[in-house]
Amino acid sequence: MRNKLIAANWKMYKTPDEARDFFRDFLPLVKDHDRDEIVVCPNYLAIDVAVHAAKGSNVAIGAQNLFWEKEGAYTGEICTSMLVAVGVTHVIIGHSERRQYFGETDDTVNLKLKSALAAGLIPIVCVGEVLEEREAGLTDDVLRRQCLRAFNKVSAKKAASLVVAYEPVWAIGTGKTATPQMAADAHAIIRAEAAESFGQEFADKLRILYGGSVKPENAKSLMSEAEIDGALVGGASLDPKSFAAIVKY
Ligand code: PGA
Repeated sequence: MRNKLIAANWKMYKTPDEARDFFRDFLPLVKDHDRDEIVVCPNYLAIDVAVHAAKGSNVAIGAQNLFWEKEGAYTGEICTSMLVAVGVTHVIIGHSERRQYFGETDDTVNLKLKSALAAGLIPIVCVGEVLEEREAGLTDDVLRRQCLRAFNKVSAKKAASLVVAYEPVWAIGTGKTATPQMAADAHAIIRAEAAESFGQEFADKLRILYGGSVKPENAKSLMSEAEIDGALVGGASLDPKSFAAIVKY
């Protein structure tokens, strides 16, 4: 049995004060919840507040991005040692918004994945097709390519902590959710690709999250699919009650 992971992706929302308020309200709602792992990924400036607020709780803190170099003249960037130093344990890599607006490619995802793994961070690598690709019947090809290139020259041993998030781009922030069956089919493709890259045993243990308009109302049916090992939640994770309801689906 794979332990489920429910992760919040706050994107470019919440000041440090708003993050503090969130944890004040959220932590009591999930304090006895030990069925699933819970991760919250705030923006960089709210991370410190989040780490302090969540200290000693059952909630881990992740970042939404990183840069792969160890340090250097890279204006505006944040590297793994900085994240680790402030208590971050997880990091989202290759979110479709980063691919769409910030020039992230399969190759930069690969560099970021290697950097995160080397630093002992738990990477949540996002993959997913856009609507045109789905409509053209290219979903399988896109997912296979994104995984193959993300995993390039990464060994199964090093990748042990890897988490993948399947996020169909057409379902992100749109209110359109993949049906549990659509998500399960996509997850099976990703798992098959992971088996080719890392071996069947690795693939059997790999956690694959679903993301894209996950809400309290649809969390249970999605999470009931054997192939779905958790959720990456954007909009519905900003409100403590709604994220707690998803965690406790
Ligand atoms: P959403 O975002 O839940 O608002 O659709 C999910 C994500 O982008 O990770």
